[in-house]
Amino acid sequence: MKPVVVDPSASKEVRYQDLACSLEALLEGETDALANLANASGLLAQTLERINWCGFYLWRNDELVLGPFQGKPACVRIPLGQGVCGTAAQRRETIVVADVEAFPGHITCDPASRSEIVVPILEKGELRGVLDIDAPEKNRFDAVDRAGLERFVQVLIPRVGWKKL
Ligand code: SME
Repeated sequence: MKPVVVDPSASKEVRYQDLACSLEALLEGETDALANLANASGLLAQTLERINWCGFYLWRNDELVLGPFQGKPACVRIPLGQGVCGTAAQRRETIVVADVEAFPGHITCDPASRSEIVVPILEKGELRGVLDIDAPEKNRFDAVDRAGLERFVQVLIPRVGWKKL
């Protein structure tokens, strides 16, 4: 298994480039979908600072169901259109929430969470799930985080057999 190499003193843009390369290296040669998602969540938790939860909700039988994650136990099922996750999945676009208390319908899993980013996972136009990351401070995620995490998801998509999950 390749080591994770992200230089903590580099700029945020460079750290996200390194993160994408680390993900490629980590998943190289492995096709097990569950193992790859589990390692992707572990890589995020190990690399990103000032977060308290990161992981995946998977699109199953018309609802989002909890997948591999790092953090406190979380709610298992989220209907389309509900919470930040269900809204991002419905709109099929990334949602950055600066203050979770100001987002109508936000679903609280870890009460420590103050801000959140949710990136939908779309494989050739098909919804496969979302990547969800929570932070214990307001305004944690900016445009650089958004671009970096969307890139992370793009690297992940062809390396996971979503239909086998
Ligand atoms: N806050 C999310 C629910 C999932 S947890 O944060 C892990 C939401 O509103 O959809």
